[in-house]
Amino acid sequence: MKGYKSETQQKNIAWFLPRPKPDRYKGGMPLYGEDWLLDLAKDILKKDDISILNLFCGMNQKGFRIDLNPEVKPDYVADAHNFVKGLNGWAGPFDIILADPPYSNEESKELYNLGKINYKKWTAECDKVLKEGGLLIVYHKYVMPNPNPEKYEVVKRVFIGTRTYHLPRVAIFFRKKLSVGASTQNPSDFGATPSFNKGLKVRSGKPRSPKLKSKILTSPNPNIKLNSEFCSQRLK
Ligand SMILES: C[S@@+](CC[C@H](N)C(=O)[O-])C[C@H]1O[C@@H](n2cnc3c(N)ncnc32)[C@H](O)[C@@H]1O
Repeated sequence: MKGYKSETQQKNIAWFLPRPKPDRYKGGMPLYGEDWLLDLAKDILKKDDISILNLFCGMNQKGFRIDLNPEVKPDYVADAHNFVKGLNGWAGPFDIILADPPYSNEESKELYNLGKINYKKWTAECDKVLKEGGLLIVYHKYVMPNPNPEKYEVVKRVFIGTRTYHLPRVAIFFRKKLSVGASTQNPSDFGATPSFNKGLKVRSGKPRSPKLKSKILTSPNPNIKLNSEFCSQRLK
């Protein structure tokens, strides 16, 4: 078989997305970047009804959005290196985590006036809220390493050409392996967690019981401020 047709090479695909998003957020993804990456992730999981965490979200719109910059109106203003404790189990675990961090400490400072980025630390934090069989998508200008080869495997790499004289980006899809002894359930069969769904349904539709209603009114963490559209549209 010709080398470029090998199984490893079949994991790689390329897109060309030359147009910026209308928001023109500094360091933002190109137009369609977020949608296409999530569509591909759903296809890999063979599942439409999925829970998404959008980490370092900037102006990305889908799922539960976390960013340290309050100006982008995230659902939760938090540091990616240490956000799980504050969630207090209220949201997650997730089927997909899409992460678009600053590409260097210098960029973090220059573009967002924020601190250093520690890849090992924030990916370990993600691991706490990613379901087994779920996908961690790291969008970067470097080919980022597998955060933990014992736990993760690369299932897809998307190389994205943008405008001329711009460096391409690469989105690596790391799938969290099923732990030994876990059920043989197909990873694509994992659903959104009850706690996550509960919050969403309550906010997007009629409260089903006074108990659930009180769940919306009393926020688990004052920093978690759900956007009004989050429940209806942003989950998908
Ligand atoms: C490359 S931008 C994301 C752009 C986004 N994907 C878009 O298309 O709009 C990186 C984001 O990470 C945020 N950020 C930087 N350091 C962070 C940290 N420690 N925790 C959470 N967010 C952080 C910045 O505020 C910025 O919005």
